[in-house]
Amino acid sequence: MISPKLAFLGAGNLASAIIRGLLEKKLYAPAEIACTSKSGVTAKKLAADTGVICESDLSRLLATADIVVVAFKPQSLADADPRLAELTKGKLVVSLLAGKTTATLARSFPHARNLVRTMPNTPAAIGAGVTSYTALAPLNASDRAALSAMLDALGIHLEVDESQLDALTALGGSGPAFLFEYVAAMREAGIAAGLTPEISLQVALETTLGAARLLARTGESPEILRNKVTSPNGSTFAGLQVLAACGFRETIKETILTSARRASELSKA
Ligand SMILES: NC(=O)c1ccc[n+]([C@@H]2O[C@H](COP(=O)([O-])OP(=O)(O)OC[C@H]3O[C@@H](n4cnc5c(N)ncnc54)[C@H](OP(=O)(O)O)[C@@H]3O)[C@@H](O)[C@H]2O)c1
Repeated sequence: MISPKLAFLGAGNLASAIIRGLLEKKLYAPAEIACTSKSGVTAKKLAADTGVICESDLSRLLATADIVVVAFKPQSLADADPRLAELTKGKLVVSLLAGKTTATLARSFPHARNLVRTMPNTPAAIGAGVTSYTALAPLNASDRAALSAMLDALGIHLEVDESQLDALTALGGSGPAFLFEYVAAMREAGIAAGLTPEISLQVALETTLGAARLLARTGESPEILRNKVTSPNGSTFAGLQVLAACGFRETIKETILTSARRASELSKA
């Protein structure tokens, strides 16, 4: 008799990352996890790849599940199956949907025993993400442990007050896009300085990775590490003066503040 404990609505990148992480750590057997997807294509593939159950019938999918992970796109929430309200009664609902507040989620899942709103970022798909989350009501110990095991698969995670989620959406959620733009700018600058596109991209990427690892491993502040690279009147010093004159920090601040304001507007829409 198959009785899934964990059900996924959506079987894309993040559902797949979480399921693979849980199976790898042997926290669930494949038969204890079930998933569904709109077309059925991604759910069937995930089931074939991992051994979890693909179940297109919503009542069968959710009958024995204690935790339901909402892993489809945010825009699908408005036209999600209305039976979900009753079918998630008494269960822990964990949403991955960007920008959907706990108040909005509570309208779709009014009888859940608790609701968790998470904000992962794209490196989560390779287990290197930062996920911030907030719960509608304080989490009990067993729900917290189950949630923590799930989010571990995506990288690091931190519980925050919901009022901080717009800022975290900008810094953590959109942060990878800003960093990709930075690497692209470094690549273009290297080409302007006479390098080939291939060498320029490789050096921009590896320098970004190496510097981030150094920062994480030494635990020193970015300013201290910056100063260690900078000799008085040397080449780094000359470059940093241009960054300061162009208002680099102000630009980044305005980028994050604008992104956070937009996240706030979108979550109210
Ligand atoms: N990827 C990230 O790094 C990231 C970062 C932050 C937040 N998020 C959030 O995480 C969620 C999932 O993202 P993702 O990248 O994993 O998306 P994805 O790879 O595009 O997968 C979306 C999944 O949802 C399914 N689906 C669509 N409509 C559905 C419905 N009505 N009922 C059930 N399943 C449905 C799709 O199935 P079919 O295609 O088979 O129909 C597919 O399996 C999104 O809400 C996103 O905002 C993701």
